[in-house]
Amino acid sequence: MAEETRRAFVCGHPIAHSRSPLIHGYWLDQLGIAGSYERIDVAPNDFPDFLAGIGRNGFAGGNITLPHKEAALRAVKRRDAAAEAVGAVNTVWFDPDGVLCGGNTDAYGFAANLDDQAPQWAKGRRAVVLGAGGAARAVIHALKQGGYGDIRLVNRTLQRAGELVAHFGTAVSAHEWDDVSGLLGDADLLVNTTSLGMKGAPELDIGLDPLPSHAVIADIVYVPLETAFLKAAKARGLATAEGLGMLLHQAVPGFERWFGRRPVVSSSLRKHVIADVEKPG
Ligand code: ATR
Repeated sequence: MAEETRRAFVCGHPIAHSRSPLIHGYWLDQLGIAGSYERIDVAPNDFPDFLAGIGRNGFAGGNITLPHKEAALRAVKRRDAAAEAVGAVNTVWFDPDGVLCGGNTDAYGFAANLDDQAPQWAKGRRAVVLGAGGAARAVIHALKQGGYGDIRLVNRTLQRAGELVAHFGTAVSAHEWDDVSGLLGDADLLVNTTSLGMKGAPELDIGLDPLPSHAVIADIVYVPLETAFLKAAKARGLATAEGLGMLLHQAVPGFERWFGRRPVVSSSLRKHVIADVEKPG
């Protein structure tokens, strides 16, 4: 009898830039699974109908990206703890009763990448986080889960950092961008969640001298693969974790839910995705 072909998707608007099909397509090939992972452009007005119809259209689930992550949080029937905490859903699936569930795998991806690239992060308790957007929410949730009790949030717009303090509670404090230097002296971890350093954006220029020598530096930017911020950290001899690993690890739980096998973030997957990241254009 022919094996059932399982289908999953990534939906966003726009969606052409998404590297998720490259990652899931690689795992489908490598594991020999009869499945597909499709890129679907859905305009915001059409999103509720799209999500309501995925089961009917033969999908086991999928990834949700900008600008639909908050709408997905509202639309699913069940949410995991990370989606509640982060305030966004990036992965949907059906439970055994056919109920549409939503989760957020970004915090998992962030922590799993640090476990891989700089495992000493887990011993830390004090972090400085640059930025206060959606990515910062996932990072803060991961840090709280990892036992960090002093998370200093630094953002150009102080009010946005204050909103995250109100959301996440007393483990988090809000600080002005110009005060960052004074927050680094006893930090175990410094994370960039802003778009600074991304191809086409201005560089992130933070003096790393005040950091202790055991500090870990993480950047969520992955184009370029090695940002100037990470280069400067390496030049100072600090342990680093780059953004590509977070992207790869956050894809693992969704694949397992849709296709029933837990995939591995291997060096050959990294090479496969790096070849695309480094393609000119
Ligand atoms: P995401 O959901 O990917 O985190 P976002 O919500 O647009 O994206 O957040 C981007 C982050 O980068 C914000 O913290 C933003 O600071 P503001 O809240 O002040 O906008 C930060 N950011 C973007 N450009 C910046 C710049 N030139 N200088 C400092 N911070 C910047």
